[in-house]
Amino acid sequence: MTALPTRSAPAADPLLDRLGRPLGNLRISVTDRCNLRCAYCMPEEEYSWLPMASVMTFEELTVLARAFRSLGVRRLRLTGGEPLLRRDLDKLVGMLAAIEGLEDLAMTTNGVLLSAQAAALKRAGLSRLTVSLDTLRPERFRELARRDELAAVLAGIEETRRVGFSALKLDMVMLRGVNDDEFLPMLDYATSVGAELRFIEYMDVGGATRWRRADVVSRQELLARVEAVRGRAEPVVESSSAPADRYRLADGTVFGVISSTTQPFCGSCDRSRLTADGRWFLCLYARQGLDLGRALRAGAGESEVAALIRERWGVRDDRGAVDRLAEHERTALAPADELRRNPHLEMHTRGG
Ligand code: GTP
Ligand code: 5AD
Ligand code: SF4
Repeated sequence: MTALPTRSAPAADPLLDRLGRPLGNLRISVTDRCNLRCAYCMPEEEYSWLPMASVMTFEELTVLARAFRSLGVRRLRLTGGEPLLRRDLDKLVGMLAAIEGLEDLAMTTNGVLLSAQAAALKRAGLSRLTVSLDTLRPERFRELARRDELAAVLAGIEETRRVGFSALKLDMVMLRGVNDDEFLPMLDYATSVGAELRFIEYMDVGGATRWRRADVVSRQELLARVEAVRGRAEPVVESSSAPADRYRLADGTVFGVISSTTQPFCGSCDRSRLTADGRWFLCLYARQGLDLGRALRAGAGESEVAALIRERWGVRDDRGAVDRLAEHERTALAPADELRRNPHLEMHTRGG
């Protein structure tokens, strides 16, 4: 099979999948629990949770991470649910930061618990933070996330600056008619806190049971709306496997757009994800995952786990978001009752 065009040149002799993509980036969901209920991710009233006994310990997660590192993974990102709900998370950060050869250890959080934990995370060796922030209006936040936590999130963002995190990113999922009128205030707010804003297209992943194509604000539309007010948004030319394409405005403001829905980046996708119970999913849209946690608990060590990963990555041909483009009658990927039977399909279980 011919390789899809990739944005970044692979390293010498890396483990490649069937489409020529290296294993580069692992997202580790440390819990499926969340303290918000964002409309694009957790719109339902009831959820099935992973049993606590199945959740990997910090030691188990570290063995798994080492196995991935041995096969070429250099970037780790902790996700959730909400990762800061996991008790003593800074200890895990310290254990992962000690793995030799890692280039990047990042976290995506909703920021609610950040002000209390930012300093400890920094001390433990976390290199980068991304905070999800969809609105600056308290009322709207309460409606969108069904919790009254905007002030806590903004305080968390302030604290990350105080303790010295640089390269802070803010992720804003754009929902038509809900928060898409806030693109300018959000750009200004990001500048005021020294962060880079990324506009994210609403995706039809598991969890987004209310997804409708009409609610998606595409990259094309967003850029047109920004340019109508702020002038030309010049593409930043760079080679990267990151999902965001970056743009620079005349006043120097740089922002990103993640267009997973209308212009997917599967061709350069070097990422995969581990759920909190050790299930390994090779694509955000994949229905099946490989149960590395079970293998570990059945006695497999780091090198046996690495052999399982090697074998599976070698036959990977997923391009979930590209495949979705071909669907004419596109609706949410999975209905709510299927998600309740199979929580591994949820975005809050997979961590994006
Ligand atoms: P860096 O580029 O390393 O800063 O991180 P990131 O952008 O990969 O991480 P983040 O958690 O901030 O992801 C932002 C959003 O991009 C997610 O919430 C998803 O909406 C989308 N996204 C992340 N990973 C994937 C992926 O593998 N596939 C697709 N289609 N979308 C993804
Ligand atoms: N579409 C796009 N991004 C999503 N996220 C969760 N659900 C969706 C979705 N349906 C991502 C957002 C958010 C993070 C917690 O997960 O980036 O900021
Ligand atoms: Fe990678 Fe799947 Fe996302 Fe495409 S949809 S970028 S293959 S995780």
